Amino acid sequence: MNLDVVLGLQWGDEGKGKIVDVLADTYPVIARFQGGPNAGHSLHFGDTKFVLHSVPAGVFRKGTMNVIGNGVVLDPIIFKKECESIEALGVPVKERLEIAKRAHLILPSHILLDAANEAALGKSKIGSTLKGIGPAYSDKTGRNGLRIGDIVESDFKAKYDILKEKHLKLLKSYGPVEDFSEKEAEWMDAVEYLKQFRIVDGEYELNQFLDRNKKILAEGAQGSMLDVDFGSYPFVTSSSTACAGACTGLGISPKRIGKVIGIFKAYCTRVGSGPFPTELSDETGEQIRRNGFEYGATTGRPRRTGWLDLVALKYAIMIDGVTELVMMKADVLDTFDKVKVAVKYLVNGEETDVVPFDVNAEVTPVYKEFKGWKRDLTKCRREEELPYEFMMYVKFIESYTGVPITIFSLGPDREQTIIREE
Ligand code: GDP
Ligand code: IMO
Ligand code: MG
Repeated sequence: MNLDVVLGLQWGDEGKGKIVDVLADTYPVIARFQGGPNAGHSLHFGDTKFVLHSVPAGVFRKGTMNVIGNGVVLDPIIFKKECESIEALGVPVKERLEIAKRAHLILPSHILLDAANEAALGKSKIGSTLKGIGPAYSDKTGRNGLRIGDIVESDFKAKYDILKEKHLKLLKSYGPVEDFSEKEAEWMDAVEYLKQFRIVDGEYELNQFLDRNKKILAEGAQGSMLDVDFGSYPFVTSSSTACAGACTGLGISPKRIGKVIGIFKAYCTRVGSGPFPTELSDETGEQIRRNGFEYGATTGRPRRTGWLDLVALKYAIMIDGVTELVMMKADVLDTFDKVKVAVKYLVNGEETDVVPFDVNAEVTPVYKEFKGWKRDLTKCRREEELPYEFMMYVKFIESYTGVPITIFSLGPDREQTIIREE
């Protein structure tokens, strides 16, 4: 049995939570493989609206096992609050969730370091969600980190103190350090709460699921254009958001990967700093933000908005080996007379379809324009109901990328989804 992967192909917030929730009833196992509470994955079904940060989006489906993989960084305080609000909805989260021993912990001092790093960067700040992601992954690759498996060891507190002291030295180099003893107490309490969950050897557990013919769906966080290697560095997150991250973040061989399901919005958004060639700073951009309710699910920040960038999308498809596409939120463009997509870049006066290495490069997109469909897509439930102009837009994207679009999401609710016949 295979591991299928759901990935964001842009700068995050493509709608991964919704699609994982939609697909979850056909997968007995859902696994997060990277990122941490910088993620905000929204789910809507019936009257319920929920934003998940650390827990995989299969948690609301009966009979689904959810695994937080070794590639994830976990903040026990956020995790506890999240699980308690899931339990408050009557969902037995402790029965439906397992956590890999090798996943790393985010400490309160990681969060202080994140804020200090960003403040020191001034105008060149990354625009981090300030959840401690960068410092936690730095400690992981620097071989200093604390892992979930450590919490049951007798020397856990001693290990914590050593790491905290390292952080304090660093923090003092930025200026006076605020008292965070209350946060520490809350953190230690949340670590105790974590012990109530099944803490497993994730790599064995997941490979055994596959051996027992249980299909796994890996749920990516962020998006390929925020990948630490292939995104617009340094304006990226600190993990491997691309498909390869699913192998290292779960302990599953690339040979076992089946479908790679790439998710993209019918336009683009980005939160935080960094290049965004098709960004619209005019009324059209404002209209996309308004119609699409483009405000961060984790931070509430307004998202930057712009036209669909096919140069960047094709790049992500190449890196990830995407086998099928899911188009999200086309309904947001329902009222537009014209819809544009970038098909090339002009860099230093020359046309190219290569994403530039230099984040300061002046990039002017070359657009192709489409007639707007001017119809309410949110009520469409079958492909035959979709307007001609919309299908022209779809066909162009498929022919440009060479990958079929297999699902259309036309509203936030589970039901507002069209899965195309093979
Ligand atoms: P994720 O991080 O990729 O899971 O995406 P987010 O949850 O951060 O952001 C996606 C937002 O769009 C959420 O508010 C969703 O409820 C909403 N959404 C998802 N799919 C659709 C869609 O097809 N149409 C509309 N209008 N909203 C959608
Ligand atoms: P989901 O999973 C959108 C962005 C931040 C910032 C950069 C680094 O919901 O799609 P970090 O907190 O990782 O140090 O921030 O990455 N970012 C996201 N943008 N969606 C996300 O997650 C993001 N997670 C991080 O805004 O620009
Ligand atoms: Mg999000």
